[in-house]
Amino acid sequence: MKQAGMLVERMKNGQAAPDKHFNPYLYEAMDYQGILLTASEWAERNRDVFKDTTKPLLIEAGCYMGKNVLEFAQNNPDWNVLGIDITYKRTVKAARKIKNLGLDNAKILISDAHLAISQLPAGSLSGLCVFFPDPWPKKKQRKNRLVQEPFLRLLADKLEPQKGFFWFKTDSLDYFECVQDLGRTLHWGESAPDVVPSGLEPLPYTTVFEALFIGKNLPIYRRVFTPPRS
Ligand SMILES: C[S@@+](CC[C@H](N)C(=O)[O-])C[C@H]1O[C@@H](n2cnc3c(N)ncnc32)[C@H](O)[C@@H]1O
Repeated sequence: MKQAGMLVERMKNGQAAPDKHFNPYLYEAMDYQGILLTASEWAERNRDVFKDTTKPLLIEAGCYMGKNVLEFAQNNPDWNVLGIDITYKRTVKAARKIKNLGLDNAKILISDAHLAISQLPAGSLSGLCVFFPDPWPKKKQRKNRLVQEPFLRLLADKLEPQKGFFWFKTDSLDYFECVQDLGRTLHWGESAPDVVPSGLEPLPYTTVFEALFIGKNLPIYRRVFTPPRS
């Protein structure tokens, strides 16, 4: 994948955005230094980006405009929360809300989530949420999905031993069954459907897409997976 956020990266290094790429969110991104992170900042500084680095780290991959990042951070002040997404508009809107609320335990990263998670030290991630990822419904599109075998193997290494969790929600039965099958093959644990990971305030954390699907009475598939004990 082309590196998400490359133009923000260049602008932070003093280069102007090329005219053909003009996008007001690119310029607004400059107002959120220390809140909206680029892939290189993440690669270089990683968990030091938070004020209190002793707190457990929760990541939401595909955080959209930050609704759940804000809910997690506000309701769980003893956690650090990082939202990751690949578009300027969504990450800028999320960063804007964090700045307005003055939250110091929430940050937004513009990056591919697989790349960002691969840069974490082993065992340093307390929880990962992937809520309603792009479903890539056709069989030949499955290779584009975020959660595939290499991703789950990577996650097993990055999650905190014993306590780390992977919270997954989707409206796609096929995506859900693929993740569930993979989890079983790789010996992950699996919760009952309505479980919220222990350690977080037990709120439903309904996402923007989830609310749309609930409104249409569509089924939602959700589980908390826990990595195999090594
Ligand atoms: C269908 S939306 C779901 C948004 C939100 N999680 C929700 O449930 O309301 C999927 C989101 O994932 C983001 N996304 C897609 N591929 C990604 C990737 N490789 N890394 C990070 N985010 C990604 C998209 O930009 C989009 O905001």
